Amino acid sequence: MFPDLQRVLYSAGEIEAKVTSLGEQISRDYANKGQLVAVGILKGSAIFMADLVRKISLPVTLDFMVVSSYGHSSSSSGVIQIKKDLVTSIQDRHVLIIEDIVDTGLTLYYLKKDLLARNPASLKICSLLDKPEKREKQVAVEYLGFQVPDEFLVGYGLDYAECYRNLPDIWVLRAEAIETNR
Ligand code: IMP
Ligand code: MG
Repeated sequence: MFPDLQRVLYSAGEIEAKVTSLGEQISRDYANKGQLVAVGILKGSAIFMADLVRKISLPVTLDFMVVSSYGHSSSSSGVIQIKKDLVTSIQDRHVLIIEDIVDTGLTLYYLKKDLLARNPASLKICSLLDKPEKREKQVAVEYLGFQVPDEFLVGYGLDYAECYRNLPDIWVLRAEAIETNR
């Protein structure tokens, strides 16, 4: 049905087990700390976040951001542009950024800087996937699902040209399917 997909890297069952264990870990760490603000980075983290927050047995509020990366451009706002900002104030609150995948690290590096300037009580990152090979900016990921090879992944929220986000498993996209001028 999807000729551009090569193989399943993580099945829905494997993902569910990992998400459950991340949720348990987060529940232990944030117990008795008041309400946790989970900040999802759209759109990639939407599916992961929906599953994860239901495995957290604590009061959680949800908020979302849309950011786009400029790559290496030297615009005044740094390397990311905030296209949709938080609705809630995070001052003095415990904040957990929920991301689908860390690749170069640029998005989270600059996003973390921006959110820290708003004086949260704490700020940590939870990412389902980590692709360390192309890392340019070191960024601490306190809660990590899987470390993955340098291949292009789709499914479970991750897209290629806005396709495949709804697949329940995480797949490797065939290299031949990737347009080289991206
Ligand atoms: P970076 O860490 O700033 O390079 O950007 C991470 C973002 O790039 C992620 O949130 C994804 O939106 C996107 N990304 C990186 N690798 C992949 C992949 O393998 N599949 C789908 N999206 C990816
Ligand atoms: Mg993303």
